Amino acid sequence: MKGVVLAGGAGSRLRPITFAMSKQLVPVANQPILFYGLRDLAEAGITEVAIIISPETGKEIREAVGDGSRFGITPEFILQENPDGLAHALKLAMPFADGDSVLMYLGDNLVRQGVSDVVRDFEKHQPNAQILLAEVPNPSAFGVAQLDDEGHVYQLIEKPADPPTNLALVGVYLFDSTVNEALDAIEPSHRGELEITDAIQYMIDSGRRVRASMIGGWWKDTGKKEDLLHASELVLDSLRTSLKGEVIDCRLRGEIQVGLGSKLVDCDIIGPVVIGDGVEIERSTIGPNTTIGDGCRITDAVVRKSILMEEVELSHWRLRDSLVGRRASIGGSAPPAFVELTVGERSEIIG
Ligand code: G1P
Repeated sequence: MKGVVLAGGAGSRLRPITFAMSKQLVPVANQPILFYGLRDLAEAGITEVAIIISPETGKEIREAVGDGSRFGITPEFILQENPDGLAHALKLAMPFADGDSVLMYLGDNLVRQGVSDVVRDFEKHQPNAQILLAEVPNPSAFGVAQLDDEGHVYQLIEKPADPPTNLALVGVYLFDSTVNEALDAIEPSHRGELEITDAIQYMIDSGRRVRASMIGGWWKDTGKKEDLLHASELVLDSLRTSLKGEVIDCRLRGEIQVGLGSKLVDCDIIGPVVIGDGVEIERSTIGPNTTIGDGCRITDAVVRKSILMEEVELSHWRLRDSLVGRRASIGGSAPPAFVELTVGERSEIIG
């Protein structure tokens, strides 16, 4: 089986962060989201992986993934010139698949339990396609599945206004080579994209065997800030303490990671918290559920349930539920209460 990881797309729901960076490289616990998926594939024994990139962020993705050796994969980068849909992206990867089965993984998804189980299940039952489903409170934000009494999927609808079930399609799909016929047959949807949901529906309608299984553990599509912060919380839940930097006169509670060369002085740190390398924090309260990227400088501030990317400078403000892009700077006279911010790369906020 080969892997196809989708790492294009505009990331419009994560702007302004994604004006300057790819949504798949936004960090969760100081690791780009994409890296979790690549590791999941390697763990499931899938080492040949096509990574679909876009002209806007392709270079950045290539540089981040490199030769793939640290994940245990060999990547092949395939350019999707326009955002023509998930099924279009898969179609571009078909020459790479070269008749093998494929596992398509959306690069902004996080799957707690990895994909080893579903790969084994696919190999055991040998359906033509296999989808993973999860119960969600907001099904109209996803592809939605309807199952018959025996658990067989008979209908998939992309982002229905009036969802018939709460079963969302997870961004992990497995196909054998019969998917080719569906990819050639479907037409662009009303939003002008070739939808993977339509391709799978075509397979169902033409009598192919499409197997659905419920996902075990949690799953997150990190396309929006709230989901990203929630994903971060879920990942941080299994954090283990490791203090590599200097921690002076601080009060620590819960699981905390402090990276190499970091220095914390007179702080309250309430885990789970991940602090990267080369970070300096003074007289501040950090956490819970917070990630501070490499090289950040924080003084006299409070940061709760937030993600600060690399080299952010923050003083005096109190942030919660915030997402702060690389090299942003927040300072001056701070508002009296907590604020919730989404700040793009290199932005400056002076109170
Ligand atoms: C895509 C699919 C949708 C699926 C979702 C999972 O939506 O079109 O069917 O449920 O991924 O993350 P997107 O998030 O690209 O809008």
